[in-house]
Amino acid sequence: MSKNDFDSGELNYLNTLAAGLVHEIKNPLNSISINLQLLNEDLQDRNSAKDAKMSSRVQLLQKEVCRLDSILSDFLRFAKRPVLHFEECDINGIIESVLDFIGPEAMQNSIRVLKSFDTKLSKCNLDSSAIKQALLNVILNAQQAMPNGGELIVRTYQNGENVFIDITDTGVGIQKDKIDKIFQVYFSTKKTGTGLGLPTAKRIIEENKGTIDIRSEDGKGSSFLIKLPVSKSKEK
Ligand SMILES: Nc1ncnc2c1ncn2[C@@H]1O[C@H](COP(=O)(O)OP(=O)(O)OP(=O)(O)O)[C@@H](O)[C@H]1O
Ligand SMILES: [Mg+2]
Repeated sequence: MSKNDFDSGELNYLNTLAAGLVHEIKNPLNSISINLQLLNEDLQDRNSAKDAKMSSRVQLLQKEVCRLDSILSDFLRFAKRPVLHFEECDINGIIESVLDFIGPEAMQNSIRVLKSFDTKLSKCNLDSSAIKQALLNVILNAQQAMPNGGELIVRTYQNGENVFIDITDTGVGIQKDKIDKIFQVYFSTKKTGTGLGLPTAKRIIEENKGTIDIRSEDGKGSSFLIKLPVSKSKEK
């Protein structure tokens, strides 16, 4: 069954149910974690080899509990649908602030950031902090796709009633058989990825009446093209 088989009321209901369930699991998980910590402290006070072995088992359990907790937190972040605050936004300014944020890490990873902004873009009516989050998710992926450095090229332009943001990287690219999956919830090829970055970005962009598309060549890099409608007031 896909997301499209539900209407938005049913989806909201399911989201609320799931978020409630996650909270119910998080609470006992928290007390399990505290008790494991206390147990481990007790074991570390003792000196026998058997206790040391038990202590390392308890630490393993603590790690797993921690992992479960972070999976649940990621899910809650994804399921939470904040109320959007639309305002007239300058897309170039929004992108600049995201690039400023990732700048130091990009430099550390030998990633060159190249910007080509159309300075005459019309304003868009958007929730700027949600759009920042969406762009950050796409740009972080680009960065993660270039572990040995490369180029991150961000271009903006306008075509009629739409503003386009092209985010291109020279990273590992995406295999053909995986391209259809990357926007699916929990699809990830990374060791520590949750697979919620792109589905979240897509949802935010669609809530802002836009679209996101991907072009990628395995081994050569990827391009994400985001389209957002310009504000009806055409205010510059
Ligand atoms: N620029 C990119 N280059 C190569 N592969 C990419 C790129 N962007 C996304 N992908 C692929 O799409 C998958 C899904 O991306 P998504 O952002 O949803 O999850 P993630 O990055 O694995 O985890 P996280 O939830 O931490 O963002 C990635 O695991 C990766 O395989
Ligand atoms: Mg990601």
